[in-house]
Amino acid sequence: MNGPSAAERALRDALGQFATGVTVVTTVTASGEPAGITVNSFTSLSLTPPLVLWNLSRKSANWEAFQDVEHFAVNVLAADQEPMALAFAHPGGDPFAGLEVEKGLGGVPLLPGVLAQFECEVRNRYQGGDHEMLIGEVFDYREFDGEPLLFYRGNFGRFRHHTRPWKA
Ligand SMILES: Cc1cc2nc3c(=O)[nH]c(=O)nc-3n(C[C@H](O)[C@H](O)[C@H](O)COP(=O)(O)O)c2cc1C
Repeated sequence: MNGPSAAERALRDALGQFATGVTVVTTVTASGEPAGITVNSFTSLSLTPPLVLWNLSRKSANWEAFQDVEHFAVNVLAADQEPMALAFAHPGGDPFAGLEVEKGLGGVPLLPGVLAQFECEVRNRYQGGDHEMLIGEVFDYREFDGEPLLFYRGNFGRFRHHTRPWKA
């Protein structure tokens, strides 16, 4: 298989200047298999109704798993969950092995030790080039204390506290 072209590489590098958090989006397939993929394209879309979105690569081994599902959960990773981010970013192996998952809306696995979980029902799917955008309505969510795992220029990192921008 061909790797990315020089032009794709350059665009990816420039896009990598935008720092994000890291999530694992999970679902359960029609045959009852859990599936999950590491995702940094997660973002909030609407408060009323409560909508979030993320983008799934057509090249992903998880493409099929997410095609017919009605539910997904977004698990926001904590700073110490880099191994989990890597486990759900590489094909092969069972990233769920040894994890004590709970089951959320639609039987979707909820991952332990995370900063937040958003249980969603799929509302829309939009085709966008080599990715598909999935918009989900949030039906339940919870948050936990901790520090976030960040992704910036192809590397994982931690948040460094600074001033609040709106502080007088
Ligand atoms: C930090 C990080 C963020 C990622 N974000 C996305 C994403 O938003 N959408 C996506 O389809 N793949 C994303 N990926 C890639 C997938 O997690 C996965 O590595 C890739 O799809 C290849 O594995 P697969 O074929 O088993 O899915 C990301 C990977 C990493 C490490």
